Amino acid sequence: MVKIVIENLDRKELVINNYSKTVLNHLQDHFLDWMHACGAKGRCTTCKMIVVSGVENLSELTAAEIKYKSRGELRENERLTCQTKTSGDIVIRVPNSGKLPHMKYSD
Ligand code: FES
Repeated sequence: MVKIVIENLDRKELVINNYSKTVLNHLQDHFLDWMHACGAKGRCTTCKMIVVSGVENLSELTAAEIKYKSRGELRENERLTCQTKTSGDIVIRVPNSGKLPHMKYSD
């Protein structure tokens, strides 16, 4: 059993036990709206998350993420939720660029 905590969504906790799904899949399974403009194809960066802790639990960078990192479009502590899987607890944040107008975010 692994927890995904979203710090700036009132520390909402998602408990997961399927490690073959992406973080975006888990967010959707829990009916959480998260921006993903290209439909999870690795062709944009709108689905990015800020990783606060647990980076060691994340899957390797995908080719898409390596491309965006090399262009400076993904910072060191950012990953694409549609590309990343986790096998351990993580704490993440929604970046300002990914905030949706109908959602209420905390600090
Ligand atoms: S939704 Fe476009 S890269 Fe993740």
